[in-house]
Amino acid sequence: TVDVWIDCDPGHDDVVALMVAACADHCNILGLSTVHGNTVVENATQNALSVMELLKKDVDVHSGASKPLMRPSKLATHIHGVNGLAGIALLPDQPRKRASPDAVVAMYQAISQNPIPVTLVATGPLTNIALMLATYPTVSENIERLVFMGGSTGIGNITSQAEFNMFADPEAAKLVLETTSLSGKLYMVPLDVTHSVLMDSAIMEKLRQHGSPISNTLVELMTVFQATYETVYGFKNGVPVHDACAMVYALWPEIMSSRIMYVTVSIDQLTLGRTVCDVWSQQTQMLPNVHVVLSADVVAFWNLFMQVVEKLNTL
Ligand code: BDR
Ligand code: CA
Repeated sequence: TVDVWIDCDPGHDDVVALMVAACADHCNILGLSTVHGNTVVENATQNALSVMELLKKDVDVHSGASKPLMRPSKLATHIHGVNGLAGIALLPDQPRKRASPDAVVAMYQAISQNPIPVTLVATGPLTNIALMLATYPTVSENIERLVFMGGSTGIGNITSQAEFNMFADPEAAKLVLETTSLSGKLYMVPLDVTHSVLMDSAIMEKLRQHGSPISNTLVELMTVFQATYETVYGFKNGVPVHDACAMVYALWPEIMSSRIMYVTVSIDQLTLGRTVCDVWSQQTQMLPNVHVVLSADVVAFWNLFMQVVEKLNTL
């Protein structure tokens, strides 16, 4: 079993990641925290609660940072709409569970008290995690891995240089990546890979054939996301499921390949939020600190994904 804490900002693709986690038999979700990012944290929290209810998962949701460490918020409303899940009508809008407003403390307690080291999966800006590391530095001892969706060795998606999760709180991302006690335990799932794992019309059709209410929600979610990605980025043959790649990697690392290298995050204006990756480990004198995923077995990914989400039909 993999004991997982999820820090997220749902977000269409965050929801896909949550579905994968909820369906994977060997994934034990210890708790869930939310952060500003795709939308304001109140909406992210509401969305996380609704998704957990939809998935019939009795997992506590803890609301976290409402803004970046040192800057005003930058939300992704152009991608995810104002409420973070634009176009989706099928989520329970009055979830029975309530969230508590203590993400950083709850995450720290769950990780430090867990009998085995915890895999932290982050699918939003790294603000909560930076705050936890700054407040409770010893927490790293019981972190097995921090797997995060973010960054890129090449192009960005919010500026020419930067990927959204890094750009939305660059100081937090820099702090996390430069935390020495996490060196070698950091796993970055960048745009290079997430742009190669596209949910295309054939996959959507198979999901549609499931015909179950939750599969229908997933299809609806990704149909809206696909349309946005076509308009904004010109993706015609499918849509990335960014955050789900990070979750799949956390649970089945064998289907992707990574290389360890030195990575930090730029806080310079022109390249703000860019992950600076020493891919050849030759251009800096710095010790490699981050395993950067460079490729995925896309066929294996979708076979596995379809197998895992079968379970949605039984919920
Ligand atoms: C990341 O940014 C968000 O819009 C997505 O949810 C994902 O976490 C992709 O750059
Ligand atoms: Ca996200």
